[in-house]
Amino acid sequence: MPLISLTNVTKTYPPRSRNESPTPAVDGVTLDVEQGEIHGIIGYSGAGKSTLVRLINALELPTSGSVTVDGRELTGLKERELRKVRLGIGMIFQQFNLWNSKTVWGNIEYPLAVAGVPKAEHQRRISELLHFVGLVDQAHAYPDQLSGGQKQRVGIARALATNPKILLADEATSALDPETTRDVLGLLRRVNEELGITIVVITHEMEVVRSLAHRVAVMERGRIVEHGDVFDVFSNPQSQAAKRFVAGVVATAPEGETLEALRSRHPGRIVSFAFADGGTGQSAIFLELTRRGVTFELVHGGIDDIRGRTFGTITLALTGDERSIDEALATLTPVATITEAV
Ligand SMILES: Nc1ncnc2c1ncn2[C@@H]1O[C@H](COP(=O)(O)OP(=O)(O)O)[C@@H](O)[C@H]1O
Ligand SMILES: [Mg+2]
Repeated sequence: MPLISLTNVTKTYPPRSRNESPTPAVDGVTLDVEQGEIHGIIGYSGAGKSTLVRLINALELPTSGSVTVDGRELTGLKERELRKVRLGIGMIFQQFNLWNSKTVWGNIEYPLAVAGVPKAEHQRRISELLHFVGLVDQAHAYPDQLSGGQKQRVGIARALATNPKILLADEATSALDPETTRDVLGLLRRVNEELGITIVVITHEMEVVRSLAHRVAVMERGRIVEHGDVFDVFSNPQSQAAKRFVAGVVATAPEGETLEALRSRHPGRIVSFAFADGGTGQSAIFLELTRRGVTFELVHGGIDDIRGRTFGTITLALTGDERSIDEALATLTPVATITEAV
């Protein structure tokens, strides 16, 4: 059974003013998150991601549909029981949401106190967490003495204090620079691998999904428009939204202005070869073109890697005899997904 399961979930907020009609923030979402996975949810601002998170941790109840967390259907639970569900879910935020008047130690202790963990156990648990996130030396510092990355480490330690099964990360790296982002993503990976905690990462950055998640759901206007293994979505995005996100971080077949610029600079036919897990793909392409006397120039593209699986797109400008080009492309059809710019 999935750890988190949403079935046909819709959440509609009351309109903020009289001339606004109510549009659902989350619209008919069905989604399973398996125990032990890192599940990404990507979408632009306003797509409904944070609402989805609040539905999972029972801060909002759905207008319709059902949300099940760790075997418990949330709709209909009493507030006391909802609190228990929330205790099994840790949460980290873009703005860290630390108590500025408490030290690092105090911030991590707070959820322990709220959960009623006996005082005698606090010391051991807090120092274990400080070791895990690498902040032993900062235990007595206040949040405003810390860097953004350190603040998020405190946020992670605090979220893990009560041993949750699930960690929800809502734009947890969006306020951090790229290098700090990589550090924090590395820590989240350890949370998943070493502690076995299931993570749902909400982001508008495809790079976060690429480096961290196993599966991803793409959200647009409250709906999930694409859902699958990260590798599959990256190597073969289906929806317009997923294509845009993927194009932002990895090379894809050129379109629009990029294509126009290539055309103005290069004679010949602009052909893209996309391949996944293709160790032999590239050399097969170059050999075949050479064999048929087709001249090629690499004009666009890149090769990428997701957990050891390679994929990418190379775009070539091909010049030579039309028939030779057609024959070469026909021969190469099994090797790569070929798109010719028209
Ligand atoms: N408490 C609320 N009341 C009314 N509308 C809301 C509320 N929270 C979010 N919305 C609206 O729901 C939509 C989705 O918002 P949100 O879930 O925050 O998206 P995201 O996190 O993807 O940016 C937006 O149109 C937003 O304005
Ligand atoms: Mg949000």
